[in-house]
Amino acid sequence: MRIVVAGGTGVVGRYVVAALRARGYEPAVLSRATGVDLVSGAGLDAALVGAETVVDVGNVTTSSRSAAVSFFDRTGRNLAAAAERAGVRHLVTLSIVGVDRVRLGYYAGKLRQEAIVREGAVPWTILRATQFHEFAGQFLSGIPGPVAVVPTGQVQPVAAREAGEALAGLALGAPMGMAPELAGPQVESLPGMVRRLIAAGGARRRPVLPVYLPGGMSAGGLLPTGPGPRGVQTFEEWLRLR
Ligand SMILES: NC(=O)c1ccc[n+]([C@@H]2O[C@H](COP(=O)([O-])OP(=O)(O)OC[C@H]3O[C@@H](n4cnc5c(N)ncnc54)[C@H](OP(=O)(O)O)[C@@H]3O)[C@@H](O)[C@H]2O)c1
Repeated sequence: MRIVVAGGTGVVGRYVVAALRARGYEPAVLSRATGVDLVSGAGLDAALVGAETVVDVGNVTTSSRSAAVSFFDRTGRNLAAAAERAGVRHLVTLSIVGVDRVRLGYYAGKLRQEAIVREGAVPWTILRATQFHEFAGQFLSGIPGPVAVVPTGQVQPVAAREAGEALAGLALGAPMGMAPELAGPQVESLPGMVRRLIAAGGARRRPVLPVYLPGGMSAGGLLPTGPGPRGVQTFEEWLRLR
């Protein structure tokens, strides 16, 4: 079975690829580095020839609503249309727990992406996962300046490795629509994760200033609401092994 991982060089994408390889598959990796641009669509049709399953873990790093909506709209449409043309039988897309409850510019883009997948002709699975353990570092790298302003709020982070393994499992199964939400084993505070990452030497040392963010993030909107698979590696364990 030919499986294509769009964004297969990213934080979670490389774990999807590794998990598929561990199960005996040789997925094709699609990113600008491998000559395919999901935004313009350049190289996409050629990359999907013969593909049965596509996993979409492409991403743009932005907090701008317009940039996020533009990226996920264009990449979502390009991928859905190319997958349909190629006769793809299963499109697996990674989304985020709370994306429909928390008002953030980036999440507006993710909601657009979800809608395109749901309305598309290719049978689909959407997995909503919580923030990765890696998210604390990804978040900090987007904040310039001498002080890290971090929204208060609880998260239930999961190892990107475990999210990658979950996606690989879904990719090898039948399309299921909305998959049960994936979360990590423990609830953490986002400022707490950031502080611990800095203390462990995993990010530039600077003061952390927690701020209340209206829009649901500071009010628990990122926590899973129903039952679903749970990763086993805690943030603390991940930090130790990093
Ligand atoms: N980070 C989290 O905590 C978290 C939690 C839950 C869900 N998610 C979701 O997981 C997905 C992946 O996130 P991530 O943090 O793993 O992303 P990431 O590390 O930023 O990786 C992004 C991937 O997308 C590719 N890409 C970006 N622009 C592209 C373009 N125009 N054309 C082709 N490929 C492009 C990148 O490769 P090139 O640069 O080579 O193009 C890279 O492989 C996102 O949809 C995100 O919403 C993330």
